[in-house]
Amino acid sequence: MKPIRILNVCAEFAPLAKSGGLADVTSSLTAYLTSQGHEVRTLLPHYSIINAEVSSEPAALGPADADLGGETVRYAARRHADAAAHGELFLLECAALYDGGIYGSGEREFYRFALLCRAAVELCEALNWTPDIIHCHDWHTALLTTMVAAARRAGGRFAGTQTILTIHNIGYQGIFPAHMLAAAGLQALEPMLNVDDAADAQINLLEAGIRSADALTTVSPTHAREICTPEYGMGLETLLQQRSDRLQGILNGVDNEYWNPATDGWIEHNYSKETPADKQANKQALLDELGLTTGARTPLLGLISRLVGQKGTDLLAAVLPDLLRQQRLGCAILGTGEPTYVAALHRLAKEFAGQLVFVDAYDERLAHRILAGCDLLVVPSRYEPCGLTQLYALRYGTVPVVRKTGGLADTIRHFDPQTGRGNGSVFEHANAQGLHWGLTTALDWYADSTAWRQLVANGMSEDFSWCRQGGEYETLYRKLIEERRIH
Ligand code: ADP
Ligand code: GLC
Repeated sequence: MKPIRILNVCAEFAPLAKSGGLADVTSSLTAYLTSQGHEVRTLLPHYSIINAEVSSEPAALGPADADLGGETVRYAARRHADAAAHGELFLLECAALYDGGIYGSGEREFYRFALLCRAAVELCEALNWTPDIIHCHDWHTALLTTMVAAARRAGGRFAGTQTILTIHNIGYQGIFPAHMLAAAGLQALEPMLNVDDAADAQINLLEAGIRSADALTTVSPTHAREICTPEYGMGLETLLQQRSDRLQGILNGVDNEYWNPATDGWIEHNYSKETPADKQANKQALLDELGLTTGARTPLLGLISRLVGQKGTDLLAAVLPDLLRQQRLGCAILGTGEPTYVAALHRLAKEFAGQLVFVDAYDERLAHRILAGCDLLVVPSRYEPCGLTQLYALRYGTVPVVRKTGGLADTIRHFDPQTGRGNGSVFEHANAQGLHWGLTTALDWYADSTAWRQLVANGMSEDFSWCRQGGEYETLYRKLIEERRIH
């Protein structure tokens, strides 16, 4: 079959720029698509935290100037020198806007990501390359679908191009004052953006993308249904219902080479599903590294998370004290986020020194060591479009304790010690009682070594790799291309 030409435009891409699962997915999906012979090109901002070598060739786009909010900024896109496994990777340089980390705050965010969208269109022109598919992710690049729809009306390069918007997190929508469109030279898009006339009118970039994209996806089938309801739609449910014939849930895949306890260079002892007992050495190494004194026989619970309301960190902070007082577990928590959650976890770490450690950092190495060293990993999310840490936990023989929502519901099945089926502990309600039940149920299983061995083996036998999931994107891409050909 003919290879598909795909332009992927995103704010995060692992390992260059990662704050969460978006980076893992954009990177591992492009690697999968490239391995299948497709022509994949990716554009992302060259934030100054990115330490990447760019090609010494002249810029692929620019240098050029853009007027954004009364300021003239200079930008250019250059090829990443060494990214063959991911197709071609282009980094958008703009010192004025991308100095610092991935996300900033305030209205400047609009200009940072509007420039990314605009540069994506210009890059295609500069390369004289017409993608079959432009794949956008989250609010940061949602506006690109509107730009392409507008350009298509005028004919030209994108007449045969189809756009996909993947909603990784509907909780972040990119809402800005409508006057910023004109300030970024994008007033021509206004009629497509549902802007009312009021002086305080706002634009919602995710909403704009949901209106304009040819196809919408989110990252699990259950979440695709959830976001069409008021409980999970965050105000966009009516629009999503209207467009539900274009909306589909495709479960995220895992990069099985990178998240592999048999080869992971960051962990103390490599192991596999054939040698699960070797996991124990990683537990001891983690206890020693973190100064935990709970010992090898007490179950060790891990959490690796952004510390925000979505993730249910407050539920965990409410439930842990009793369990720690009863000395039922040890706890290794890694995360960064909102000050109230950070403070609550610091308090717990102080009160239960030796039993609970909280590392307030973003630390890729420690994330791997927690996955390898813990017995259980908790994901108590209020909503979770897909979730990746529970999938990584399965790979590392670490039993996930998850709330039944979104991708957690689609990937984790509650274990039944009678039949030996299931791969984790799944609780229904996003409250302290629900989480307490999920944790204590798993702790009871831990006490039964035969049941536990079975549960761990079940998890390690799962396959959530892109080889299993990636075909769904290819099928969708081809369906869209066919539709465009017919119309
Ligand atoms: P989300 O994208 O909502 O944050 P996911 O479960 O999809 O949730 O992905 C989270 C990703 O970010 C995983 O790769 C996880 O290991 C990583 N991660 C989150 N917090 C940290 C941290 N503090 N240090 C290292 N890795 C982290
Ligand atoms: C989002 C979601 C998470 C998902 C990730 C990658 O940040 O919160 O559930 O796994 O994106 O799609």
